[in-house]
Amino acid sequence: MVTTSQVLIGAHDIVKSFAGFRALDGVNFGVREGSVHAVIGPNGAGKSTLLGVLSGFVPATSGQVTIADVDTTRLDAASIARMGVVRSFQISSIFPHASAIENVKIALQARSRLSWQMIAPARASDVFDVAAASALAAVGIEGDRATPAANLAYGKKRALELAIAIAQEPKVLLLDEPTAGMGAEDIEKTIALIGSIARARTVVLVEHNLRAVEHLCDRVTVLARGKVLAEGSYDEVRGDERVIEAYLGGTAH
Ligand SMILES: Nc1ncnc2c1ncn2[C@@H]1O[C@H](COP(=O)(O)OP(=O)(O)O)[C@@H](O)[C@H]1O
Ligand SMILES: [Mg+2]
Repeated sequence: MVTTSQVLIGAHDIVKSFAGFRALDGVNFGVREGSVHAVIGPNGAGKSTLLGVLSGFVPATSGQVTIADVDTTRLDAASIARMGVVRSFQISSIFPHASAIENVKIALQARSRLSWQMIAPARASDVFDVAAASALAAVGIEGDRATPAANLAYGKKRALELAIAIAQEPKVLLLDEPTAGMGAEDIEKTIALIGSIARARTVVLVEHNLRAVEHLCDRVTVLARGKVLAEGSYDEVRGDERVIEAYLGGTAH
């Protein structure tokens, strides 16, 4: 069992009900500082809901969320992002007509603690320009800075999501299926990218690609029907009979 002081972000007896249906049903989950922690499990297991609860986008029905031992259960997503816990954006939140770099800048401006009216707009734009350019470079799409987001190939759109997240310099990055829908080549690139992002951060990774999990993750939590089914190293959980059953039981893909 992980002691409280090692846990950077934790869920304690979390229940999340949607109209009486328990998407999360008493989840305990602790992520050690500096680790890459995978959350796997069949569709509908509650993985995205858990990321939502941790990041403040989804209010828990009961239970507690802590970040570095501070109770953040009732904080909203903006406050939690300011504490350094950032959930990656989905493609649907990208502005299609804005360029790649404008998309990163828009996200930075929206989340900036400074009210942008307080600094001269031109200067604010310069500050964000540097941060946004370096985030694009970190995910390898700096050559597409002026390309409208809608014109980016699928893999580059997913890279832009990551750039938007890392531009905010998170301590904890929550990634929801970053390789979903990608071809083999983009999956390899994304695994390498997450590996390099993770060097300086704590990462929670919801992922179906088990190669990515094996490659990147220090610890794996298996969710099924809103409950933690197993937790351990990749090798420990993949040999667990309940895990095999959950995956082969007809709900996995
Ligand atoms: N906003 C919502 N309203 C109603 N039901 C939801 C909502 N979000 C998720 N659920 C339900 O909660 C369960 C868990 O969903 P989710 O966390 O998205 O699972 P996963 O990410 O593991 O596939 C599913 O049955 C889903 O239909
Ligand atoms: Mg999901």
